[in-house]
Amino acid sequence: MIDKILQKDELTKEDLITLLSIEDEQDLQKLFEKAYSIKEKYIGKISHYRGLIEFSNYCIKDCEYCGIRKSNNLVDRFFMNKEEILKMAKWAFENEYGSITLQSGERTDKDFIDFVTDVIKSIKDFTNGKLGMTLCMGEQTEETYKKWFEAGGHRYLLRIETTNEQLYKNIHPENELHSFSNRVDCLKSLRKIGYQVGTGVMMGIPNQTIEDLANDIIFFKNMDIDMIGMGPYIVHKDTPIGKYAIENNLDTNENKKYRFLLGLKMIAVTRIFLKDVNIAATTALQALDPLGREKGIKAGANILMPIITLEDYREKYQLYDNKPCIDDNADKCKNCLTGRVMSVGEKVGFGEFGDSKHFFKKSR
Ligand code: 5AD
Repeated sequence: MIDKILQKDELTKEDLITLLSIEDEQDLQKLFEKAYSIKEKYIGKISHYRGLIEFSNYCIKDCEYCGIRKSNNLVDRFFMNKEEILKMAKWAFENEYGSITLQSGERTDKDFIDFVTDVIKSIKDFTNGKLGMTLCMGEQTEETYKKWFEAGGHRYLLRIETTNEQLYKNIHPENELHSFSNRVDCLKSLRKIGYQVGTGVMMGIPNQTIEDLANDIIFFKNMDIDMIGMGPYIVHKDTPIGKYAIENNLDTNENKKYRFLLGLKMIAVTRIFLKDVNIAATTALQALDPLGREKGIKAGANILMPIITLEDYREKYQLYDNKPCIDDNADKCKNCLTGRVMSVGEKVGFGEFGDSKHFFKKSR
């Protein structure tokens, strides 16, 4: 049955569910090999880097799974200054990272928006527009998205987290600040403005079903998404969902293994279904398995996000427990990750943007 599905050109929702439910070792290998062959055909045996700069952990949101949520008063909050951010961007540029990702907790005040605009412009200027910039700063007004686009951001990553609206409600406080429909509207605004648009979900959230995940993949297609950043849910002990998971025995080793595998299967099935989009093998994969990111590449991912955040701040930016690379620095992460990519027979696209092929096919 799996062979038959893998030979089809168009997959139905039932097919997606069947593939996401695979447990048999041989069938899993077939799934990953198929996904990898599609990646090879549409993208090549190459992965691209997005140097990740986590510049602030202040956040106005209270997402119930996230370690830097507003109500977690155990977090030591920081906000990097412009010089620090530029220093990391410069490091990325000199090390021929094609792109960086600017990420922070969410803020929507004028000071924040102006600060980010200025940082984007400065990076654009000193690199002569030769360093790609992905922005990841949550829900903003269309006006703000436009401002940042004009300043030089050209990709935006905003995860939908889950497309099951009831589940979305369960993992977020019920108020205007955490509205599912607003998040969808944000994705539409980003598209309208001209960004390459990225979204994604978490896999293995308590009470999430395989059907939910199949619907997530269909959502990516219906929204004509260019880039996918998704990863397994990981417990953070100082959050409501983390506490719930621990209390209900949902964070056993077996459970972690299940979530990790779900992470790989989602990458593979998304690659098979969407073909030419960029898909990241996220750090969260590595948090659950030491070879997580390599396995992500072999399952069809083509983007890696090495953390380049300055060492002093790394431990303060913990969205989940046991985040890897906290004691590393940018140089170490570069060597380590490049080794990981080479170990699976691929090369790194140094000095290249590594844009979403899907986006450009569409724009022509
Ligand atoms: N486990 C896994 N991913 C998480 N994120 C936030 N908290 C967690 C967690 N506990 C992810 C969300 C968010 C991204 C920046 O980090 O999907 O969009």
